[in-house]
Amino acid sequence: MATTRPAKTTPADITAAAAASFEACSDSRLRELMQSLVRHLHAFAVEVSLSEEEWREMIAILTATGDITDERRQEFILWSDALGLSMLVDALAHELPAGATESTVLGPFYVPGSPLREYGESMAVESGAGIPAWVCGRVLDVSGAPIAGAELDVWQNGADMLYAVQRPEAEEDHLRGRYLAREDGSYAFIAVRPVPYPIPDDGPVGRMLEATGRHPWRPAHIHMIVRARGYETVTTHVFDAASDYLDSDTVFAVKPSLLRTFRERSPDDPERPAGIDGPWVSLENDIVLAPSETDEDGGAVVDPGRTA
Ligand SMILES: [Fe+2]
Repeated sequence: MATTRPAKTTPADITAAAAASFEACSDSRLRELMQSLVRHLHAFAVEVSLSEEEWREMIAILTATGDITDERRQEFILWSDALGLSMLVDALAHELPAGATESTVLGPFYVPGSPLREYGESMAVESGAGIPAWVCGRVLDVSGAPIAGAELDVWQNGADMLYAVQRPEAEEDHLRGRYLAREDGSYAFIAVRPVPYPIPDDGPVGRMLEATGRHPWRPAHIHMIVRARGYETVTTHVFDAASDYLDSDTVFAVKPSLLRTFRERSPDDPERPAGIDGPWVSLENDIVLAPSETDEDGGAVVDPGRTA
């Protein structure tokens, strides 16, 4: 008597079984995320005919990513940034009204708890950090009204290309600070002119960039998170419009609306602010916040949490 053997198990059977394993998940969003993840991950493997050797290499890369990540180095965010995922998630999360300042990546160098500084105060704690830059502007709503008390949480690199968090010997509060907008929405601080820098490229992300012929550079920028009660918090950059790499930022973070021009100033310029000696630059940059759509306290002044 002939017996019917089960049909050969196909790749599609494996994908279906893995996806079905989440059917009983009581959290519908988690179920959706896990089932879609399985389907897309499997579809990727099928599309490229992923070999066992390549699969082992992927595991090794993820292992190396975990190994190099600590409280000062966040290689997972670097992967997200270098693959364009950070910018994509940011775009999906923020549909801003016309005129509102656009967001861009947080990046791996944000450290919460920057010191609160006075209007016009320098955030360069160490000397020789770079060319002094007077940065000023107003924080406004989309109608042009000032937002008094808005907080700007600012951080940047110095002329050595490094953020303080990248140098164990650095003064902790070097080139970072929080500033409050005055009654008329105006703010000002002394920064240094930022310079292009390579993202940390001595780990798995750097090896990927090298292997694929990509460079690790980012154009010069200053980071800001701007928060005010009743408004959407915006995480953004100001890019130096004269920088290299504006058209090939390795983390895809450049948006044309965020480019600003640093004006070069001479030491005897009558507008030279107190606290600046020698040649300097200035930059004007208004920030426009969208009204909060999430809750009454949207945009409340809360650190979003350490990422690196
Ligand atoms: Fe940066």
